[in-house]
Amino acid sequence: MHMTKEQVLKALQSVIDPELRRSIVELEMVRSIDISENGVVDVTVSLTTAGCPIRGHFQTSVAQAVSALEGVTHVNVYFDVLSDSEKAALQQKLGRASLPAGSLAEVSNVICVGSGKGGVGKSTLTANLGAALTAEGKRVGILDADVWGYSIPRMYGLGATRPAVSPQRKIIPLQAHGVKVMSIGFFLEEDSAVVWRGPMLHKALTQFLRDVEWGALDYLLIDLPPGTGDVSMTLAQLLPQAQFVIVTTPQPTARKVARRSAEMAHKVDLEICGVIENMSGFVTPAGERFQIFGEGGGQELADELGVPLLGKVPLTMPLREHSDSGKPLATENPDDPASQAIGHAARGLIAMAPLELRTLPLATAAPGTPTPPSSPKPAGMSLPMA
Ligand SMILES: Nc1ncnc2c1ncn2[C@@H]1O[C@H](COP(=O)(O)OP(=O)(O)OP(=O)(O)O)[C@@H](O)[C@H]1O
Ligand SMILES: [Mg+2]
Repeated sequence: MHMTKEQVLKALQSVIDPELRRSIVELEMVRSIDISENGVVDVTVSLTTAGCPIRGHFQTSVAQAVSALEGVTHVNVYFDVLSDSEKAALQQKLGRASLPAGSLAEVSNVICVGSGKGGVGKSTLTANLGAALTAEGKRVGILDADVWGYSIPRMYGLGATRPAVSPQRKIIPLQAHGVKVMSIGFFLEEDSAVVWRGPMLHKALTQFLRDVEWGALDYLLIDLPPGTGDVSMTLAQLLPQAQFVIVTTPQPTARKVARRSAEMAHKVDLEICGVIENMSGFVTPAGERFQIFGEGGGQELADELGVPLLGKVPLTMPLREHSDSGKPLATENPDDPASQAIGHAARGLIAMAPLELRTLPLATAAPGTPTPPSSPKPAGMSLPMA
């Protein structure tokens, strides 16, 4: 019995492009299939760029999928590159304006840290995950997207300095403890509040991503405001490849609230990559353990979502104290139980991100958003009034 092209194509439906998260058949990336008499199958896959880092993934998965067919003796996988018009067609299919470019082109992983409700420790964990990933040798940036209650500048001991603007009119992020940091707090008088209206918020977040000189980063961590509001939606729109880490406290009610943010993430098509349980018990100096906020919520949420529980971070005084004094505990005292748990979560993130995730340009504006003037290019200094 001899296999047909249709059968090969059907087998290839199981090969998923890990970035675009769809089958290469659906994406029309299968250029050709040739079957010879002796059972050798040649498959040519079209990539979006020649230097595609996920080539190896396709090589293996295509060979595996096709070899499983009866009568196949050998599989050759070849690659070529989509033409510009094919790329445009692919972009249209994906509902995006264009393929990777811009400031985030050198950012490998974008991870949003969110929660259903406030005060669960998102900012503390973002700040310390940044420090822990840096300690693991990763290049890290933190974008404080909590434009109402920004707290990353304080946690990194960054105060009054306004970021400089490069000759290319890009905002240079401030740097502390080896991490590049950008926050609306750098542009405001201390404790002044901004009233954000929809389009303004969208524009500010767009600027944070597009007009900031992030450079080459392994991780861009984004500290979200509490809840499932505008900021998360805007970011999801701007960064469809971002991943989401959900922070929850251990009690069952918190889990329910946290699940809402998971539902939001699903709705806007962001991938949830894990859960971190924070305020997970307290150990007295005498070694007695108190489950102040209950128990088990993080694991249950993780199970429910089918993602790993990346860590259980205990309550410790030093974690709070260091946040307040501007020095991430993960850098200052890696032996603290909270630092250890955060380090564990950081290594979990590293373990699950072997891919160079590609980022997308920010040209797509939200419907109804006025297009920013193209000249002069918006620069950082206009942020608070943007
Ligand atoms: N594991 C912990 N141990 C001790 N203190 C903690 C811990 N996690 C967070 N905190 C403290 O709890 C407070 C709230 O934390 P944080 O500001 O990080 O929460 P958040 O979720 O970012 O809040 P918001 O929703 O307002 O942005 C801070 O004072 C922080 O230092
Ligand atoms: Mg916060």
